[in-house]
Amino acid sequence: MHACSIRNLTKEYVLKSETVRALRGVSFDVPEGDYVAIMGPSGSGKSTLLNLLGCLDQPSSGELLLGDDNVATMSDDQLAEIRSRRIGFVFQSYNLIQQLTVVENIQVPLYYQGKLGAKERKRCTDLAARVGLGNRLTHRPMQLSGGQQQRVAIARSLVNDPYFILADEATGNLDSKTTAEILALFDQLNNEGRTIIMVTHEDEVAQRAKRVVRLRDGLLQSDVTNDAEERQRAAARALELIPTEGAEAQEKVEA
Ligand SMILES: Nc1ncnc2c1ncn2[C@@H]1O[C@H](COP(=O)(O)OP(=O)(O)O)[C@@H](O)[C@H]1O
Ligand SMILES: [Mg+2]
Repeated sequence: MHACSIRNLTKEYVLKSETVRALRGVSFDVPEGDYVAIMGPSGSGKSTLLNLLGCLDQPSSGELLLGDDNVATMSDDQLAEIRSRRIGFVFQSYNLIQQLTVVENIQVPLYYQGKLGAKERKRCTDLAARVGLGNRLTHRPMQLSGGQQQRVAIARSLVNDPYFILADEATGNLDSKTTAEILALFDQLNNEGRTIIMVTHEDEVAQRAKRVVRLRDGLLQSDVTNDAEERQRAAARALELIPTEGAEAQEKVEA
């Protein structure tokens, strides 16, 4: 099963003076459980592709399948439905609601769907614990570090059991230690079977993914699988930046 499958996808922006061909026929599949980094120079079409994958915009032509849903032919209402129920967004700027607590922020997508019973509340508390915030449930975003805020956003992204996590420069605002923590969390989630698609311009982040898709001038320039051992080495190097987890990992090695 594919989390997502795109075929000959194009997107044109029609302006008064010209038509910008932002995507000119891009095809690739993302199997469930994959972890893809999308890279490319400025203007290559990354944001356009992310917007299409996130059902924030519709392609000009081509096929876009998310699971069994053919998104390319959907109405705006149907798109909004998929967007809120089946995509887990993680943004550079976290996009949390300042007035709400950690667990309430995680509940937001369910709240909008009017399904927030005891079972769902428990699920949100569990997700907070899953991202290491079990002891911060009633904190508000202002009382959290950047890395903790991004953890809330990641927990929120998982609340609907999405086709994939769609991360847009998710570590762009974070220092290297916190970046290491978030990437370790992505590794754990991916090991549990979560599909992750992220846009990044940092090689160090991209080398942590299983695969790197590069765009250039609206076309797919390359699609390369990262060497598994190199990924492990990169993860190990990053782990050294995280005091506690690094120590735990070291203990395991020594035991
Ligand atoms: N809303 C828009 N209207 C018109 N042109 C756009 C719009 N969004 C992006 N573009 C153009 O499409 C091309 C690809 O942009 P974008 O997807 O933002 O690339 P990237 O994220 O890789 O920098 C660029 O030439 C950009 O100027
Ligand atoms: Mg962009």
